[in-house]
Amino acid sequence: MIVVEGVNKTFNEAQILKNVEAKFHPGKVNMVIGKSGSGKTVLLKSLVGLHKIDSGSITFDGRDFTKMRTKEKIAIRKEVGMLFQGGALFDSSTIEENVIYPLDMFTNFTKAEKLKRANFCLERVNLTGVNKQFPSELSGGMQKRAAIARAIALNPKYLFCDEPNSGLDPQTAIVIDKLIQEITKEYGITTVVNTHDMNSVLAGADSVVFIFEGHSWWHGSRTDLLDSGNPELDDFLFSSELMRRIRPTKQHK
Ligand SMILES: Nc1ncnc2c1ncn2[C@@H]1O[C@H](COP(=O)(O)OP(=O)(O)OP(=O)(O)O)[C@@H](O)[C@H]1O
Ligand SMILES: [Mg+2]
Repeated sequence: MIVVEGVNKTFNEAQILKNVEAKFHPGKVNMVIGKSGSGKTVLLKSLVGLHKIDSGSITFDGRDFTKMRTKEKIAIRKEVGMLFQGGALFDSSTIEENVIYPLDMFTNFTKAEKLKRANFCLERVNLTGVNKQFPSELSGGMQKRAAIARAIALNPKYLFCDEPNSGLDPQTAIVIDKLIQEITKEYGITTVVNTHDMNSVLAGADSVVFIFEGHSWWHGSRTDLLDSGNPELDDFLFSSELMRRIRPTKQHK
C-alpha cells in the first residue's frame, strides 16, 4: 500500500498540493480524478520522486520515500512502472529497444534474457511483430500498449499511469483500461491512475480520490461516487453531457 500523508508542494510561491492525504491499495486500480490544473500530475510526479515535496510523507509499504537515501530510492524505483501523459516512448528507439531500456538500466540480464522478457511483455499487451518498428510507425493505441509493456518490464509492485487513454478513441481507451485492470489484478500491483475520463472511472476504478484545487477533497469507491453529496465533486462529475444524461436529477447550472 502507498500512503500519502499531509503532502504539500509549492512552485514559485503558488501552493499546488495542499495537505494531500490518500491511500492506494495493492491489486487495485486507484484512480485520481479532478479538473485540469488541479494537481494530479504534480501528485503523481511527487509519488515517484520527480518532484521534491515541501512537507508530508509518502510511504511505499511502510518505507518512507521522502526520508530515503539515494540508494534506497533507486531500489524502490526498480519496483515502479510509469506511464506518462503523452506516451513518452523514445522516438528514435525501436519498440523492442524501448521495452528493453528499463532492463538495461536495472538488471544484469543477458541479452537473450532481456529479449525474452521484452517479448513476454509485448505478448502480454497483445503487441507482436512490431519489435523492429519505431513508435511513429504505430497507432496511438499501439504506442500506449508498447508503453505499458515497457512499464511492466521490471515486474513492478507499483504502477503509475498519467492519463493513460488521453488521445484515444473510446473503444481503444477501453482496451487500454482493461489491460491496466488485468495487469493490476494478475500481478497484485498497486496501480495509481490519473484521469478525467469518467468512462474509465465508472468502468474500472476500485477506489477514487478527487483532487480539488490541490486538496484531496473526497475519496471513496466508484459506487459511492454518484451519490457523494459533495457539491464540488458533483460539479466536476456532472459537467459533461454524458454524465448529465446518466444522472438528470443532479444537473448543475
Ligand atoms: N514544474 C512546475 N513549475 C511550476 N508550476 C507547475 C509545475 N508543474 C505544474 N505546475 C502547476 O501546477 C498546477 C497543477 O498542474 P498539474 O499538471 O498537476 O495538473 P493536472 O491536474 O495534472 O491537470 P491535467 O488534467 O490538465 O493534466 C498547474 O497550475 C501547473 O501550472
Ligand atoms: Mg496532468
